[in-house]
Amino acid sequence: MSDSSTRGPVPDLASLHALGAAQQPTYPDSAAVDAAVARLRSFPPLVFAGECDELTDKLAAVSRGDAFLLQGGDCAETFDGVTADNIRNKLRVLLQMAVVLTYAASVPVVKLGRFAGQYAKPRSSDLETRDLPGIGQVTLPAYRGDAVNGFEFTEASRIPDPQRLVEVYHSSASTLNLVRAFTTGGYADLRQVHAWNTDFVMGSAVGSRYEAVANEIDRALTFMQAIGADPDEFHRVEMHSSHEALVLEYEHALTRIDSRTQLPYDVSGHFVWIGERTRQLDGAHVELLSRIQNPIGVKLGPTSTADDAIALAARLNPDNTPGRLTFITRMGAGKVRDLLPPLVAKVEAAGVQVAWVSDPMHGNTYEASSGYKTRRFDDVIAEVQGFFDVHRALGTWPGGIHVELTGDDVTECVGGGEELLESDLADRYESVCDPRLNRVQSLELAFLVAEMLRKA
Ligand code: PEP
Ligand code: CO
Repeated sequence: MSDSSTRGPVPDLASLHALGAAQQPTYPDSAAVDAAVARLRSFPPLVFAGECDELTDKLAAVSRGDAFLLQGGDCAETFDGVTADNIRNKLRVLLQMAVVLTYAASVPVVKLGRFAGQYAKPRSSDLETRDLPGIGQVTLPAYRGDAVNGFEFTEASRIPDPQRLVEVYHSSASTLNLVRAFTTGGYADLRQVHAWNTDFVMGSAVGSRYEAVANEIDRALTFMQAIGADPDEFHRVEMHSSHEALVLEYEHALTRIDSRTQLPYDVSGHFVWIGERTRQLDGAHVELLSRIQNPIGVKLGPTSTADDAIALAARLNPDNTPGRLTFITRMGAGKVRDLLPPLVAKVEAAGVQVAWVSDPMHGNTYEASSGYKTRRFDDVIAEVQGFFDVHRALGTWPGGIHVELTGDDVTECVGGGEELLESDLADRYESVCDPRLNRVQSLELAFLVAEMLRKA
């Protein structure tokens, strides 16, 4: 671990706000905010500092080119979505993807859920206008995630309520509890590799392809067992949690001094990241995350310059500790081959230690003629392919993918082997924010990325 004397103490919440913080809720009742924050401060940590350090070590392996990061989950979790089925399905698709990546590419895969805290959303506009039948145009505050206000398009529901932050904590705690049970209690045992391939996925082309991989793994396991090898790793997986650190009240209240090291950790999740809209160098989010010890990420979109990235690294990781900082690039399929090379080349030339990860989702969103926000599966693949090609040309390591996905059979992104059409989007569009890959599309992505990885 780094010597963090260079990082300095965590400022209080008021000082953070004084720096100017983008994308924050405007709460109508400040006493209610104080009460919610006080409540959050009294709760136990959701994750342990030592687990965050373990993830830093794994991400150091990613930045060295010795491991690959699979980070995935919903764009926005919802309180209603905290059900056993939902969590299990999400976990299952991540496990299937991880198996495909590990087996096909023979590279260790670091598994990071985009869950147990992903409840707050940055928005491009503060307001949302809808044309309501019989009423006309109605403008209300935009939905900023269940952490802030309600999705329902009514005035009452859209008022930011700080009590929701307390519910984020409890929802995240139940999610993590089930994830820990599933990953260590037998469900994630490699012997279950067939059992993860169920229902609609099993019947798909990619499901059959997965079945073939599972058969090979089964044979390998039987062989290992026959020679008396049965390591712990066959029976459990390590899965970490992550979310965008957006609402300062929540992240600050869950920033605690670790009793082992006397250093601050944001114990709301193992890994937290700064979004594309809140990465201002002198802003509150960069300030807060510069003080904590967790491994952290920063999203870098098409307007990011290499100098921005180098300055962010200097602020966020002054000791240049490997594994501490991940840059998650999200340029768009049409731009990645132009914008990524100068960025990566200059950052690497500056000696910055970083894991490079591709988010092939957020640069590829468009509105279908039906009004649904969607993404083309082909664009997602094209951005990842561009990311791999750029890194290969520069001799740097394409360290991972960051994807929005679900374990369910939703119809939110078009294309993929099942050739989902724009006219299918209405069938099962359930995301309250960005469109996610469904389980079949996610598994297809894993096979395609495994192929790219094998060549990397
Ligand atoms: C997101 O990850 O859901 C998101 C809003 O991303 P970005 O900050 O890259 O736009
Ligand atoms: Co999103």
